[in-house]
Amino acid sequence: MVTNKDTVMAESQIKLYYKNVTAETIGTEHGITSAQLKALAEKTSPLISRLNEERKAGQTPYRELPYDEQTSGQVKDLAAELKDDCDNLVVLGIGGSALGNIALQTALNPYMYNLDDGQRTGPRLFVFDNIDPAQLGSFLDWVGDKLDKTVFNVISKSGRTAETASQFMIVRQLLLDKLGPTGLRDHIVATTDPEQGTLRKIATDAGLRCLEVPQGVGGRFSVLSAVGLFSAAMCGVDIDALLAGARDMDGRVSCEDFYKNPAAINAVINYHYYNRGKKISVMMPYSYALKNLADWYRQLWAESLGKAEDLAGNEVHVGPTPVKALGTTDQHSQVQLYREGPNDKLFTFLQVNNFEKDLKIGPAPDCAPELAFLAGADLSRLLNNEKKATEFALLQSRRPCLTVVFDEVNAYTVGQLICLFEVTTSFAGALFCINPYDQPAVELGKEATFALMGKAGYEELAQQIQPITEVDADYLV
Ligand code: PA5
Repeated sequence: MVTNKDTVMAESQIKLYYKNVTAETIGTEHGITSAQLKALAEKTSPLISRLNEERKAGQTPYRELPYDEQTSGQVKDLAAELKDDCDNLVVLGIGGSALGNIALQTALNPYMYNLDDGQRTGPRLFVFDNIDPAQLGSFLDWVGDKLDKTVFNVISKSGRTAETASQFMIVRQLLLDKLGPTGLRDHIVATTDPEQGTLRKIATDAGLRCLEVPQGVGGRFSVLSAVGLFSAAMCGVDIDALLAGARDMDGRVSCEDFYKNPAAINAVINYHYYNRGKKISVMMPYSYALKNLADWYRQLWAESLGKAEDLAGNEVHVGPTPVKALGTTDQHSQVQLYREGPNDKLFTFLQVNNFEKDLKIGPAPDCAPELAFLAGADLSRLLNNEKKATEFALLQSRRPCLTVVFDEVNAYTVGQLICLFEVTTSFAGALFCINPYDQPAVELGKEATFALMGKAGYEELAQQIQPITEVDADYLV
């Protein structure tokens, strides 16, 4: 029997719509045929069982985060303790230690949250995932006389990332100068590895409050751990609903029936098009709130799937290039290319049926009757019709389009989206036969920075870098 509660839950489930990648819509040259999909379903079905087995064996600990009540309890307790006395929360982190925080804040709090006290349900949130001194300097000038009402959440799994470490060292000195040693204990929360690493050592030494980056969970899969949950809870996001949404999707993406599993279908479609020359994957939300989830996805997809070697050690150099675009803004920037440039892209729209706020368009001025078609319409109707119009135009040019449909953007549906794309990434990794959980190529850049900054033990690397850093005047114009 379908109960009222089931209906409500089903309505709040996000859905993946894939008809507009099929041959039925865009023809056999560019569209996937049902025979091709059936063949891919047969190839993928054993992978669904394999992923479920790996998960049971504890090999993909990110899958358990939505069920970790101990962590969500700790996060809520700490947020409750700090929130009343905190006007400004400052996240210091980069990559997987920042993008999820930014995405949750943009998705689940109002656009004017930081500026309008009436719209704020917690401290203002600032996330520094860069080390531009002009940017951080300007912020520190502003926050310098507000430190007693400011909490810094330094997030680094390793603690040795130069960007986060340097930000932390600047802030630490500022707090020591202005508030003394208790300033560190009262105004810093360190989110890091439970046992090891530089930040854990510092936190233990200084007696800082700590939260944990769970072991075995890479930065880009960590948004549903304390990494993403703490700033969200501080800023009034319903993290229980977020985790419940992720659990809802976790059930759907574990389903062994390929045609009912949105992550398996999403991964297969991406894999199919990659192998047919569509190596660019564009995510295009038609919702400002979802804009930074596209940024979060960009890192997840790029770092997880861009790999030189497959699992057998063969040189493969695979990986779709993820691109973020925003509807309608990028219709006026990118769509000319998307329609008439190379047919090398798969599009994923994010569509929202009901917005938290809507606006009626006013009447047309008498002198401009040509605008009367807009008068009285809801702005959301215009936005969603622009999405349909762009999709139609792309389909006319035989470009494959997926859509993830949200009934509305809330913590429950955003939790689903996060889980959907994380598990899609695991499926895509399995289809490409690569390890989606490591990022060996990021290391060399980190180590070269150490060498250039004079870290002991990196002298040989510094020598190797020298010819590149010396400017050759013959090539300077
Ligand atoms: O996804 C990842 O693993 C990376 O983006 C890391 O999150 C990023 O490099 C920051 O590392 P750390 O948290 O160790 O400072």
